[in-house]
Amino acid sequence: MALRIRKDAWKLPPWDPAFEWYAKAVGAMQARPISDPRSWRYQAAIHDYVAAADPAPGPLPPAAHQQRYWRQCQHFCWFFLPWHRMYLFHFERIVAATIVELGGPADWALPYWNYSDDTNPNARVIPAAFRDATLPDGTPNPLRIDERDFGNDGSPVGDPSDTDVCTALRKTRFESAGQFGDPGLGGGESGFNHGRGFATIAGELERVPHGSMHVAVGGFMGAFNTAGLDPLFWLHHANIDRLWQVWRERDTANSDPAKPLWLTGVRFHFHDHAGQPVSHVSEEVVDTRAVPWEYAYDDTSNPCLEVERVRTTAERLVTERRPEMVAATTHVELGERPAVAELAMAPPSGPARTLAESRGTAPNVYLNLENITGVGQVSYGVYLNVPEGETAEQHPELFAGVLPMFGVEEASQSDTGHGGSGLHYTLDVTDLVRQLQEQGAWSPGTVRVSFVPRLRGRETARESRRPNLEVGRISIYMS
Ligand code: C2O
Repeated sequence: MALRIRKDAWKLPPWDPAFEWYAKAVGAMQARPISDPRSWRYQAAIHDYVAAADPAPGPLPPAAHQQRYWRQCQHFCWFFLPWHRMYLFHFERIVAATIVELGGPADWALPYWNYSDDTNPNARVIPAAFRDATLPDGTPNPLRIDERDFGNDGSPVGDPSDTDVCTALRKTRFESAGQFGDPGLGGGESGFNHGRGFATIAGELERVPHGSMHVAVGGFMGAFNTAGLDPLFWLHHANIDRLWQVWRERDTANSDPAKPLWLTGVRFHFHDHAGQPVSHVSEEVVDTRAVPWEYAYDDTSNPCLEVERVRTTAERLVTERRPEMVAATTHVELGERPAVAELAMAPPSGPARTLAESRGTAPNVYLNLENITGVGQVSYGVYLNVPEGETAEQHPELFAGVLPMFGVEEASQSDTGHGGSGLHYTLDVTDLVRQLQEQGAWSPGTVRVSFVPRLRGRETARESRRPNLEVGRISIYMS
């Protein structure tokens, strides 16, 4: 079979047959019982399932079956990208097979939502086929989900920092450099990690635009156990999957992890379009054009227009350096109001100092936000050194990054009798610190870290979901 081409949803007509057939297939899949691997709800349960939150409880597959196939989503670690690629592939084939059963074309491919497209003024608007109440034939539209918190009215979702792809695409490595340094594109080394209990560091692509856009749409999209119930989820993940490919192609030196644990160490289980069990390891999915995947994207060009530098091996090794802690504080509560933490900072005395002295290279600076636990479908904007008495909004130039709380509730729960260690994000603030140094606004003694909630009316909308979060530790590392 020829390659299936996944296309940009915004470049298709509003009711392209790809959307119409998707809608019909979703309707047919919704009619199948949750015990059928080809049903809509089973597909969402592969990602995560919480019986207590099931709006339509009914007969479930046996516990041993659930154990193997449900609640499998890999988050906050280096399996995030390969696992979601496998998951999307089988989902796409199940939809495609359903479309054929309904009398549709054989070559259906999942479109993607490119909310970061600078050439499209509507990029952050949810495509019309996911908002319209009815299909062109007048029947109800299963692609429209009323539970969404934002975007069903056609207004843009999130803000431009939620859809920034260049921070992630500029990463020179896939894997995080240990626990506190460069987060990498794809996250930290780990075994099977459903994102409960112990979580490693999340990669840049998982933080933004992935996590930030989950939160920006909200509703079903805001939690692991319901995300797959929103048909838009699959277009969001097709875009994330595409961005992995964009990263691979934009610099020939960019490569996936080469460690056996990533390549073959963990096997993931799914069902194929015929409802038969299948399993995969990550090394199988690195080439989407290979059998059995056989798909490609209509556009994998590099959207980040900085002049490309050819990086030397020495430059690449920069991110391998061992990070040294220069500041830390504990326990900051995050709620509906902005919060500020002050960190006392000591000049580097170990490897980061040696580096500065021996090579004249200023160290990279990483802001670590660890053990984030609690509840709240919200993102926070993080800023450095906002002057006392002024607000972060007055200082966009002090913006350090977005902290999306997608998955925080899940990461706060325990899997194995241990408490959940929560989310861990690392923001590379090297450029911001350099800029502050140039302006004389970086005192080596103290750093102020401000957290600004992006509530967008959520504080009134959902009393029960008020953000109530805690950052266990904030630290600054240099390497
Ligand atoms: Cu496993 Cu975007 O979620």
